[in-house]
Amino acid sequence: MRTSAAALGGLIAIAIAILGASKTEPEQALPPGPLGDVVRLGEKLVRETATHPLSKPYVGNALNCGSCHLDGGQDPKAGTFLGTATAYPAYSPREGRVITLEDRILNCFMRSCNGVRPPLGGEVSVAMAAYITWLSGDRPVAMNPSRPAGPGAIKPLGVDAASADPERGRAVYAEKCADCHAANGQGRKANPPVWGDRSYNQGAGLAQAPQLAAWLKVAMPLDDPDLTDQEALDVAAFINSHDRPAFRLEDHLPPPAKLGEYNAADASR
Ligand code: HEC
Ligand code: HEC
Repeated sequence: MRTSAAALGGLIAIAIAILGASKTEPEQALPPGPLGDVVRLGEKLVRETATHPLSKPYVGNALNCGSCHLDGGQDPKAGTFLGTATAYPAYSPREGRVITLEDRILNCFMRSCNGVRPPLGGEVSVAMAAYITWLSGDRPVAMNPSRPAGPGAIKPLGVDAASADPERGRAVYAEKCADCHAANGQGRKANPPVWGDRSYNQGAGLAQAPQLAAWLKVAMPLDDPDLTDQEALDVAAFINSHDRPAFRLEDHLPPPAKLGEYNAADASR
């Protein structure tokens, strides 16, 4: 009797260890002092981008960074930020320049969040970069010379993009997605809109069906991503067959004077 109780205790301890290990909490402690506060602010802004008073003015839809970078970027698969900062500065074919992590973050405001680029060196930009860098604190720098993507970037699916069938995708959507995102795609409560005025714009990565498919494969349905490659591609094509905001870069860049800030609390010294 005592042995089996001990064995049961042992099993429970192992189960707790496994559950604990599968959590995605970063292992490194928050840095002390103001840096730790800023890392924490950055996490809040990533999770509550569309509603937090500091970031809200720069967001033009209903999405938070965490709507696609699941669990505030701490999910190991769906748009993970674990290790991301090690890849920057990186060469970006889109901008034709070497860009920094801050640039990469700010560009997501213009496209995925259909908003306006916050000032470089401003509070929002620095806090988000601090948070994302903190999530890479346990890894060596490995700057990416070919694209702005970290080690955990989502891999393309092995299915031919030309085989996408939005009509088959309509059925997948009705069966696996509409409960949360609503039949009209406008979402409900914490489930964000997947098309229309309040969703990502045509300039966003997810506006490309193959990229959306690769993300869906590891992200949706939330908590139990189980789509086949073909289902992911078909439902991606269905979602992206609907209207969403157009993207013209000049509508998303602030006036030149607001593009950057001298990065100091007191600009007089
Ligand atoms: C609509 C979904 C969506 C939203 C919202 C979104 N992103 Fe992204 N983001 C993506 C996708 C998809 C990629 C990957 C693109 C690729 O692989 O080329 C990405 C890439 C990134 C990367 C580069 C990751 C890497 O591996 O190097 C960073 C950093 C990033 N996003 C930050 C943000 C921040 C900060 C916000 C909020 C201001 C945000 N994103 C909002 C979809 C989104
Ligand atoms: C249980 C509810 C649920 C189900 C089912 C679900 N989603 Fe989501 N989806 C969410 C939530 C919640 C988010 C935002 C993530 C967050 O905030 O943590 C999201 C985010 C998204 C996004 C990125 C943000 C946006 O609104 O564009 C897309 C695209 C998406 N889901 C598509 C799908 C598709 C396609 C399916 C079906 C295969 C699906 N979802 C099934 C709850 C769900």
